[in-house]
Amino acid sequence: MHPIELSTKVIDTGIVDQPLNRVTNDITELADNLAIVESFSHSVVWDTGDGLMCFDASGAGSGIAVVDSIRTWRKAPISHLVYTHGHADHVGGSMMGMNIEGAARLLQLEDVPIHIQTDEAPWIQRTTGIALDSLRLHASGDKVSVGEIEVTLLHTPGHTPGSQCFLVENMLIAGDTLFLEGCGRTDLPGSNPEQMFESLQLLGKLDEDVIVYPGHQYSIPKCMSMGEVRNTNYVFKPKTKDAWMQWFGGA
Ligand SMILES: [Fe+2]
Repeated sequence: MHPIELSTKVIDTGIVDQPLNRVTNDITELADNLAIVESFSHSVVWDTGDGLMCFDASGAGSGIAVVDSIRTWRKAPISHLVYTHGHADHVGGSMMGMNIEGAARLLQLEDVPIHIQTDEAPWIQRTTGIALDSLRLHASGDKVSVGEIEVTLLHTPGHTPGSQCFLVENMLIAGDTLFLEGCGRTDLPGSNPEQMFESLQLLGKLDEDVIVYPGHQYSIPKCMSMGEVRNTNYVFKPKTKDAWMQWFGGA
């Protein structure tokens, strides 16, 4: 299949023929203290023992539906909101005709810190209207510790300037940087295909046992080991930036 054709599989606006990006707002327990909500962009929740850490809690439909799902699972207060990037289907707000309750609405319910990459701040502020002093700005490699959980933040620009992924124990929350098949779009405002190559190379070096949870489920499984993703995902086929740009750098 031609890469342009393949790239239509990784569009993240929902205006695509992707039957597998489920939007049920159902919550599934993946491990003792870990669950995932099937919102438009999947939301991962970790019960840290010192409050719930919510990754990309938003979702078309509404952030409230996500919170309601979380509440059927655990009653602990939400203590941290962490976002991979500033697109409205992840953080809420207005984008491309969508108006989605997300971080701004959640802030009204639970006044908690919102962790993002520094480069994403202006985009998130523009999309959500959240004040800068509600945002905790991070650099790549920063760690956020809550209870017994330590989260390492990896800056992975390409889809957006301040996209980030989260490494928690043996799990990677990949947002729209890496899907199990394909990767996030690099033709949107703020996208950069050369940076996407570098970011994918960074993620590709992670241990093969790391379990990848993408922001959208454009594949049958919810998650897959990095070893398997590296072996099967076509975005890891180009080995040089020049080769990558020939395939994915646009017309
Ligand atoms: Fe996105």
